[in-house]
Amino acid sequence: QTDAFTYDPGFTSTASCQSKLTYIDGDQGILLHRGYPIGELAEQSSFMEVAYLLLNGELPDADQLGTFDRTITRHTMVHEQLATFFRGFRRDAHPMAILCGVVGALSAFYHDSTDIHDPAQRVIASHRLIAKMPTIAAMAYKYSVGQPFLYPDNSLSYTGNFLRMTFGVPAEPYEVNPVIERAMDRIFILHADHEQNASTSTVRLAGSSGANPFACIAAGIACLWGPAHGGANEAALNMLREIGTPDRIPEYIARAKDKNDPFRLMGFGHRVYKNYDPRATVMQKTVREVFAELKVTDPLFDVALQLEEIALNDPYFVEKKLFPNVDFYSGVILSAIGFPTSMFTVLFALARTVGWVAQWNEMITDPDQKIGRPRQLYNGPTQRSYVPLTER
Ligand code: SDX
Repeated sequence: QTDAFTYDPGFTSTASCQSKLTYIDGDQGILLHRGYPIGELAEQSSFMEVAYLLLNGELPDADQLGTFDRTITRHTMVHEQLATFFRGFRRDAHPMAILCGVVGALSAFYHDSTDIHDPAQRVIASHRLIAKMPTIAAMAYKYSVGQPFLYPDNSLSYTGNFLRMTFGVPAEPYEVNPVIERAMDRIFILHADHEQNASTSTVRLAGSSGANPFACIAAGIACLWGPAHGGANEAALNMLREIGTPDRIPEYIARAKDKNDPFRLMGFGHRVYKNYDPRATVMQKTVREVFAELKVTDPLFDVALQLEEIALNDPYFVEKKLFPNVDFYSGVILSAIGFPTSMFTVLFALARTVGWVAQWNEMITDPDQKIGRPRQLYNGPTQRSYVPLTER
């Protein structure tokens, strides 16, 4: 039994909920999942093991992990008619638009796991969401590039299965590269859960009304898409491409500091972290490892490293405590692995589905849980009488 944290974050009165899942100390740059530091989980664990930890509260033993793995694997296929659903989208639809639509439609295909009051249905829905997200994500990519969908190959790992469904083709065998598989699995761990961020709060708020879990996760996907949130990984790489070369960095640093310029350094800053995002540390290390193993280089990585160096020594960013966040380096590595920028937030959603599902379960099983109902400070007109049109 871990020692319960006794701390006063100074916002007890305004906290949206209590949770045992994830602890963040933004000033110290600490991120714990059920008490385990993200750095240790990223280095030593697997995404499926972290999924088990978030859902069940403890690291699994070998039997428990094996059973969990097999259970998730049994749900990797999607209803065959879902493929038809995909074909209603335009080929140039953004994969996140497809993900929003398809996940929102899942409750129309899996009626037997939408009753939130039935513990067995809650478990099946949770496993279906975690298992089918890679299949749906890969289908969204395949659809966007005009290639046929690949069925899951359940002899592969969770992450290996996803890589094959994404990059494999029926015409030839696909070998999962263990270096890329490990890097992808670590990237999924880094994105698994992050306390009450905007999309997780969206999932909880939707769930508090009694909406089915598929609809709640679809709401989270929609919120994550925003460039201030999960869309930042796509925006950060687009920003690095726009900067292009190190000599243009000062121009963009100046723009980021100009209050009249809406430009923000994408992948920088965070509502909670006022220190280095511990996930960014692991992400940068993973870029170096994958690039060394695959013997690839990318001038944008050098631009990112120099941009970080300049920003971290600029008084404006130091004073505002702006550091790289999880999204700053992720695009460089995802691009090197072969994903188009349009898939970056889809990958974030795939990984965050584990956190959303764990948070939804924690909320829905809380005996004191009530429908969420944020209040407001009203600053509109005082009461007044209606004026007929003829008198206006
Ligand atoms: C994620 O919540 C989570 O946990 C999210 C996430 C998760 O795992 O779920 O961690 C994932 O969303 C990470 C963040 C990804 N977004 C980006 O990288 C987009 C670029 N970042 C900014 O848009 C911004 O930093 C936010 C949206 C992330 C946070 O914005 P806030 O809440 O306004 O940040 P702040 O209050 O700490 O800002 C302090 C000051 C402000 O200036 P002033 O009003 O005090 O004059 O710093 C400025 C901000 O305008 N600022 C930036 C900046 N981020 C904040 N200035 C330039 N570039 C930036 N990136």
